[in-house]
Amino acid sequence: MRVLGIETSCDETAAAVLDGDRPLGARILSNRVLSQVADHRPYGGVVPEIAARAHVEHLDALIAGAVDEAGLAWSELDAVAATAGPGLIGGVMVGLVSGKALAATLGKPLVAVNHLEGHALSARLSDDVAFPYLLLLISGGHCQLLLVEAVGRYRRLGTTIDDAVGEAFDKTAKMLGLGYPGGPAVEAAARAGDPAAVTLPRPLKGRAGCDFSFSGLKTAVRQALAREPAPATADVAAGFQAAVADCLSDRVGHAAEMARQRAPAVRHLVMAGGVAANRFLRARVTAAAEAAGLELLAPPPELCTDNAAMIAWAGIERLRAGLGGDDLAAPARARWPLDPEAPPPAVVAGLRSAP
Ligand code: KG4
Ligand code: ZN
Repeated sequence: MRVLGIETSCDETAAAVLDGDRPLGARILSNRVLSQVADHRPYGGVVPEIAARAHVEHLDALIAGAVDEAGLAWSELDAVAATAGPGLIGGVMVGLVSGKALAATLGKPLVAVNHLEGHALSARLSDDVAFPYLLLLISGGHCQLLLVEAVGRYRRLGTTIDDAVGEAFDKTAKMLGLGYPGGPAVEAAARAGDPAAVTLPRPLKGRAGCDFSFSGLKTAVRQALAREPAPATADVAAGFQAAVADCLSDRVGHAAEMARQRAPAVRHLVMAGGVAANRFLRARVTAAAEAAGLELLAPPPELCTDNAAMIAWAGIERLRAGLGGDDLAAPARARWPLDPEAPPPAVVAGLRSAP
């Protein structure tokens, strides 16, 4: 089964071809990602209109390049998988419409893929990991802990009540004058810093459940920077990163207990999303997972940040599970939760004073 994947939900234009020729996993025949970072850098963040235009400009050539690199003729593709949301709606429409046009022209199935499902299943592309597993999804737009029960079956255990963790990295980088995108810049700056030099809060640490909050941490960074004399950039970066690591570790501990109550067979914690590329956080979350009796698995960094291999892979998983493939009428969605039945975060639901 050879599947073309298309990803355009944020600021990466991506196309990949996978060969699902084994009972488990798949071979990546090509995996092209065109970053729009340079287009958005002058604005210090992703500008939706610029993103959509850049996708329109580059997607066709990128798809052709990916199919060519895979050594396949168009007719040798068995299906097309395209991100149908959630994300910036203009960009999502560009990729989804291109996928639909290709699938219709080739007479092949179209799988409309949830971008978050792409992240959620990416570990099964790189590692042999069985359901159920716990997923820590940490990216620029999301910060969630989910129980992945099967393809298409996700239970959200916790989510952020304000900012996503990647967003907090990006905003902290901006305040520190480290440029955009902020995550890798903060990680690099933190290497030379003393995490104990600046005192920063650990929002929600120790509270029941496994929701997240990062806006207070961001405010604390701003206040620290306003002090005289201003702390060193490296120390703030290190302090911020250490605070994030403490929060993630604490929440993972709680989530492991919650996951086990629902699914005693849980053995693995999978870390995915752009922020999972952070080596310091990986090490800290690995330790937290081990303490909670779980083994950590994280896809390689190039499969953690946005890419189309994970979309093609989600397409293969869906087709193998007998889900999707007839999605020519699927809408592009700005919002598309993986677990539509998830209750609102506990802290928001009035458990603010829970221990
Ligand atoms: O998954 P992703 O590529 O796109 C979204 O779906 O959001 O994640 C992008 C986010 C950005 O906020 C970026 O700053 C962050 O991931 N990121 C990192 C690192 N690399 C990327 N954050 C911390 N450390 C990193 N090394
Ligand atoms: Zn993403």
